[in-house]
Amino acid sequence: MNAASPNSQANATPAPLSVAVLGCGSRGRTYSRLIAFCGEDYRLTAAADPVAVRREAVSSLGPAGQIRVFASADELFSAGKLADVLIIATQDSQHFGHAMRALELGYDILLEKPAAESLARCEEIDALARRLGRRVALCFVLRYTPFYSEVKRIIDSGKLGKIISMRTHEGVEPFHQAHSFVRGHWSRSGTSTPMIVAKCSHDADLICWLGGAGLSSISSYGDLTWYHPGNAPTGAPLRCTDGCPASESCIYDSRRYLGDKRRWLGMVMDGFEQAADHEILEMLKVSPWGRCVYHCDNDVVDHQVLACELTNGITATHTMTSFDFGRGIEIYGTLASLKGGIPYSEAGAPELWLRHHADGRIEPVDIPQPNNAGYAGHGGGDHGLVQALGSLFSGPERLEPGLDGLAGHRLAFLAEEARVTRRTIASSPASALSPQS
Ligand SMILES: NC(=O)c1ccc[n+]([C@@H]2O[C@H](COP(=O)([O-])OP(=O)(O)OC[C@H]3O[C@@H](n4cnc5c(N)ncnc54)[C@H](O)[C@@H]3O)[C@@H](O)[C@H]2O)c1
Repeated sequence: MNAASPNSQANATPAPLSVAVLGCGSRGRTYSRLIAFCGEDYRLTAAADPVAVRREAVSSLGPAGQIRVFASADELFSAGKLADVLIIATQDSQHFGHAMRALELGYDILLEKPAAESLARCEEIDALARRLGRRVALCFVLRYTPFYSEVKRIIDSGKLGKIISMRTHEGVEPFHQAHSFVRGHWSRSGTSTPMIVAKCSHDADLICWLGGAGLSSISSYGDLTWYHPGNAPTGAPLRCTDGCPASESCIYDSRRYLGDKRRWLGMVMDGFEQAADHEILEMLKVSPWGRCVYHCDNDVVDHQVLACELTNGITATHTMTSFDFGRGIEIYGTLASLKGGIPYSEAGAPELWLRHHADGRIEPVDIPQPNNAGYAGHGGGDHGLVQALGSLFSGPERLEPGLDGLAGHRLAFLAEEARVTRRTIASSPASALSPQS
């Protein structure tokens, strides 16, 4: 039993799991709000962020004085261990340092993905967590959505028979690609991680989690084909705000942040809800999000495919493309195939359905919506993950020590190695881990 975690089976009324938040940006605030919404089960105790308005947004979620605030990670760590669980929601390149320090202090961790900027560093986090007997859960929120929970339940029920292969698909959507992976935080692999890790580590995790095994071997192809100067409209200036001749027809025109794309500012502009149009325009004139998408310093791919084999023989492919919208999945079993996701539901088909091989029957699947969580916040996954915190970190079903989700990260990082080297990569014996590892 974790001494700092009072959620004991023996207690008639278990004390709440205490949680501190490092990084109160978009993700940190989302988890904090959901934790506050969960009422008695959790207690927020501390929040750290150099931006005052962000840490104060978290501290305002509790009664006065309950949530201590800190202006940096250093300050938070210097105060000792302040909670059972530390949520680390800083930027990608900070995760490794923050996670290693938090483990040494005795925290269990809910760590935003990617765990680190290289596979070797992910393995270091795993090794330290195992040595110290600490648990690190990655924010693989899709596992906790009603949709993927149902996919997993159907696989485990045996209704599909033996699983032979699967196909996953992620359409990032052009404006999302531009906002996050051309103009934004994840546009350069050197300062964040490669696209297949930054965006598709969820899909890599799903392949291992649903497939029930780690990676055996992988190949991958992809490139940055569209978002570069060679495709810029004639006469396009460096910034959309500098009078672009193509602005009327360009789907990436940054002035759309003033209109139908305004919600994307929530991730990059404090106080965007109250901001006047002229304030947003001023921001676009100087920030990365006002740049022409064909004149950025981006280097991550806009399309990538991978093909792999898991240690149990299941084969899987994944397609990531800027030029489609939404995730989809197909799982091929000996008795039935299971298909679903946005590409189907958008076209009027059921969101999830089985095709039985015996008679060709199509069986739509009802997806339960626990607690009316709905589909907001990563398809309900943000809410589902926060609800699962208690069982992940305390009680009899809690995680084993180590980095949960390492197998999916291994798959994603080795996909990038395969793409760059144009080789098929056999995973090391260490990857023959359970999908939970
Ligand atoms: N699980 C998912 O589906 C998902 C989705 C989006 C983003 N992410 C990941 O979540 C992480 C956070 O993303 P975000 O969109 O919230 O980014 P963000 O930039 O909005 O938030 C990061 C926060 O960390 C703060 N910060 C920087 N240095 C700090 C320090 N030394 N100490 C404390 N705080 C510090 C920043 O001020 C900022 O508020 C990223 O790693 C991202 O890749 C995960």
